[in-house]
Amino acid sequence: MIQTDLELFEQIDFVENPLYERIINDLIERKYSIVDNFFNEGEVNILRQALLEKYEEDNFKKAAIGNYINEVIAKSIRGDFILWINEADAGKAEKTYFDKINSLVAYLNRTCFMGILTKEFHYAVYPDGTFYKRHLDTFQNDGRRKLSMVCYLNDENWKPENGGELTIYSPLENGKEEALNIYPLPGRVVIFESQELEHEVKPVKVPRLSITGWLKTR
Ligand code: OGA
Ligand code: MN
Repeated sequence: MIQTDLELFEQIDFVENPLYERIINDLIERKYSIVDNFFNEGEVNILRQALLEKYEEDNFKKAAIGNYINEVIAKSIRGDFILWINEADAGKAEKTYFDKINSLVAYLNRTCFMGILTKEFHYAVYPDGTFYKRHLDTFQNDGRRKLSMVCYLNDENWKPENGGELTIYSPLENGKEEALNIYPLPGRVVIFESQELEHEVKPVKVPRLSITGWLKTR
């Protein structure tokens, strides 16, 4: 059989990625995927350093939940401090981060026609005693949020007693729901459908560090 140049090009160009395939299957089957060591120890250390530098320079802001709610109420819903990351002026640490994210996005768009066009990411610090009550990520009134991604930057000896689990609530077929508790372990990435899964961050006893973001359509 004669192959056209285009067919040949596509065969050479497209290499199936087992990790990305697993993420896609997880998302199809249960709307979330948990990937340990998505970022390796070295990458996490560099990102944590970058976060802490900016945090100590006082660049973080109290996270909002909508401009119509006052600060006292907001604090009873979420207590984290955030700093948006601009890809255009990303430093070395953030570049590594975006390289991996962009590679995943390209794969999702190519294999599942997900139509992800934009993304937004912020660093987050949950100080001692803070939490984020059960919510859906679309209550920020942004229907373009398709996938939520959280990457944890805590240090190696994060312990279950520190709290701060991400709890994802999955509806079951019998009308009940399942609550899945996920520890914020360094290098771990959790991806889930923004419009579908309610979730919360349990109170933390030790500052909890992460990058949270959204892959968006249209
Ligand atoms: C959020 C969120 C989860 C986490 O920022 O919207 O739900 O584990 N974060 O930090
Ligand atoms: Mn959320």
